[in-house]
Amino acid sequence: MSKKKIAVLAGDGIGKEVIAHAIDVLRASGAEVEFTEFDWGADRYLRDSVTVPADGFSLLANGFDAVLAGAFGDPRVQFNIHAREILLGMRSHLDLYANVRPVKLLDSLLCPLKDCSPEDVNFTIIRENTEGMYGDLGGVFKRGTADEIAVQEDVNTWKGVERVIRYAFEHARQHGRRRVLMSDKSNALTHAGSLWQRVWQEVGGEYPDIEKQHMYVDALALAMVRAPRQFEVIVTNNLFGDILTDLGAALQGGLGMAASGNIHPGRTSMFEPVHGSAPDIAGRDLANPMGAIASAAMMLAHLGLTQEAARIDAAILSAVRQRKLTPDVGGTLGTRACGEWIASHI
Ligand code: NAD
Ligand code: IPM
Ligand code: MN
Repeated sequence: MSKKKIAVLAGDGIGKEVIAHAIDVLRASGAEVEFTEFDWGADRYLRDSVTVPADGFSLLANGFDAVLAGAFGDPRVQFNIHAREILLGMRSHLDLYANVRPVKLLDSLLCPLKDCSPEDVNFTIIRENTEGMYGDLGGVFKRGTADEIAVQEDVNTWKGVERVIRYAFEHARQHGRRRVLMSDKSNALTHAGSLWQRVWQEVGGEYPDIEKQHMYVDALALAMVRAPRQFEVIVTNNLFGDILTDLGAALQGGLGMAASGNIHPGRTSMFEPVHGSAPDIAGRDLANPMGAIASAAMMLAHLGLTQEAARIDAAILSAVRQRKLTPDVGGTLGTRACGEWIASHI
């Protein structure tokens, strides 16, 4: 089998720190992969005003089997314009419509809820990743005046909603899950809500083997804290998914633990930790590398390298059980010591 080609975009802040360890761990896993690093990020943008070079997205789509990304965001860049163009650009240009974000507690010690065990927190959020409030439609009228108006449109297409709901059902079947929950706010946002509801009914009819549930997103946020055990697969829109997956990260121990895959089946997909560039701790050997390393494992599993992926997941689990942890999850190790421990225990 030829080596899988991985494009690495470490990005900004702690993205650079955690991705270095994800690469070491991928090497230690024995996976047949080769890396090409890209310097897209704030430093490059501040240097030459380039966020994504010409043909950058088609290079990723056509030249690589997968993309491994760190995080994008830098306080020196106004509105983080580079991060939008790079990160949201990849999701949109590569059409990575399913953002798969597992919410999996590895050890009771990590959970902020009392009496919570790994069996209580083990579900996956599938976030629509190409439209919704992120569609970048809208505008500003009378800018800079007392009458200024900003409009941000919520874009929901039948095609976009249909494919992500179908993805959630397929994901459930493939992972032995029996239940899918769709979450929206159709009691207030009636136009988009009606479309989501109708697609949900229609596509759901094709999956009689899967139990279907629905919750409004506000009620779901409460239930994720009060009774997370009931959830197996949750599908929702882009913005609700963004917010719920930070809550989901908290249930796993914090943003440092959470992994994700931005997926279009059959096309070059992108894997990244859920967290951002964390300027408050960047460059201080404080970042938890586990979310990035777990994202690298998701990438291998997606590429069919399931044994290597399982080895990485097992090493992360032993690190947690043996308390080889960074300070965000109650440990004393630095990023480097934690990353090296995992790489050497594959
Ligand atoms: P953040 O995820 O960077 O940080 C939130 C808090 O969590 C901070 O206190 C940070 O120190 C902590 N944290 C995050 N990851 C951690 C880790 N691995 N280990 C230990 N602690 C960790 O979110 P933010 O502060 O809202 O955003 C900072 C920048 O990152 C912004 O520019 C934002 O737009 C960007 N961002 C990028 C992505 C991405 O590239 N996928 C995701 C979220 C935020
Ligand atoms: C995420 C991030 C991004 C998002 C930001 C950085 C644009 O919060 O990946 O969750 O909102 O999708
Ligand atoms: Mn987010």
